[in-house]
Amino acid sequence: MSEKLSTLLLEWYAREGRELPWRVKGGAHPDPYVILVSELMLQQTTVKTVIPYFYRFMERFPTIQTLSEAALDDVYQYWQGLGYYSRARSLHATAKMIVQSFGGVFPRSRQEVLKLKGIGSYTASSFLALAFNLPETVVDGNVIRIICRMYHLTKPVDEIRGLIEEKATALTDIARPADYASAIMDLGAMVCTPKNPKCLVCPWQKYCLSAGKDDVERIPVRHKPEKKEKYGRVYLIFNAAGEVFIRRRTEKGLLSGLYEFPWSEGDAPPAGAKEAGVEVSHVFTHFKLVLRLYILKAETYLADGRFVNPEELSIFPMSTLMKKVWVAGKECRLLKNKLHSDAGLVK
Ligand code: ADE
Repeated sequence: MSEKLSTLLLEWYAREGRELPWRVKGGAHPDPYVILVSELMLQQTTVKTVIPYFYRFMERFPTIQTLSEAALDDVYQYWQGLGYYSRARSLHATAKMIVQSFGGVFPRSRQEVLKLKGIGSYTASSFLALAFNLPETVVDGNVIRIICRMYHLTKPVDEIRGLIEEKATALTDIARPADYASAIMDLGAMVCTPKNPKCLVCPWQKYCLSAGKDDVERIPVRHKPEKKEKYGRVYLIFNAAGEVFIRRRTEKGLLSGLYEFPWSEGDAPPAGAKEAGVEVSHVFTHFKLVLRLYILKAETYLADGRFVNPEELSIFPMSTLMKKVWVAGKECRLLKNKLHSDAGLVK
């Protein structure tokens, strides 16, 4: 049965599978570097979002050698807006390690691949399957949804993870694991979608215990923790020359390594800070951050940052959140008034 199911899926994939810029279909050998970059970008990010970033990144860093020789800030520049910036740092560190310690040759064993930065169990499987056609099973959100629906598994996913992995492994085509991994991801993205699954065109419809049933959209069952909201204040601090204060986040944790306008969660605003009357928010994986914007004039500020000409802000890699802060700041009236008086330093 499992062979038949994988054959049905692979036939469907040959006809309907997506053409993606990092993908080679039908057993050709891809460049493992291309797979590494794309798999890291695709962690927690949709295919649609990744595609333009992937093209720009590969144009700037076409080989693992070029990436290993690049400055980390340059890599951040090309990751700006993709989020989860630790991935950029990990990718850069992995490129250095492969070039400097492994002579540019990618490891092929799971044990070795797991030692690379930014590669956990899921990415190790997808990398080994896609780059080297090794018999690994990818179990991402798409696959979990497909397996739970196929076998009508209605217990919470967290409680049946072992069972899901077992069933997913049993279905994998061990002769063509690369195509199989791509095929099942496509099935999840194109047919077995969270809402309105297209059971009528599914190659597995005949064998699926949920196809056409009323509860299909409710499977898989997940206990979703509520996204917490956090509140804070963010400061656009200008000196008399019209420069704005930025600082760099420390290398660990949320948005590490990127530049930001100073912000904090609990502290009272510094003396003289004027509330701009706008809030900027951004949704991270586990919480939503809402920042109230303040504008402040100061000639000196914290020691761990610097004043820069706003025209040059784009040189400094910033998160989407901080870009939103800057846009909101530019738009708010208070700042507009200030800009008039500062003879147009900010456009
Ligand atoms: N999600 C993770 N890896 C992927 C890939 N290679 N193609 C499409 N979606 C993916």
